Amino acid sequence: CRVEYLNYEVLDDRGWDLDEADLMETAADGGLDREDYGQFWVRPRESLLEAAERHGFAWPFACRGGACANCAIVVLEGDMRTRVDHVLPEEMLDEGFQLSCNGMPVTDELQVVYNVKSMPELEDLLL
Ligand code: FES
Repeated sequence: CRVEYLNYEVLDDRGWDLDEADLMETAADGGLDREDYGQFWVRPRESLLEAAERHGFAWPFACRGGACANCAIVVLEGDMRTRVDHVLPEEMLDEGFQLSCNGMPVTDELQVVYNVKSMPELEDLLL
């Protein structure tokens, strides 16, 4: 699966909106560092967090076991399957929130915003 990613901190700094239809195009033209925006490949049976780390990125996490939400991401395009999720409520899953620590892509393409733990929605879920 090919993943296109964007750091939530950048989005927040620049005043971009998560719901913007062409958010990733805006990011692609934004002159961002590879750490903040880019693409990488996820191997079969690899979680998104593991793939990010294999590519040298330090995405946030804490428990790695589906219990803390520090690793949360928002999926803009594509879909993921999470093996263990004890933390995200149903309505957040409906809004595209997922856990990167054990979530695996189930589509060939995925667009995600990572590092969303500073979003107000997650404030009460972080351990
Ligand atoms: Fe804790 Fe993913 S790191 S839920």
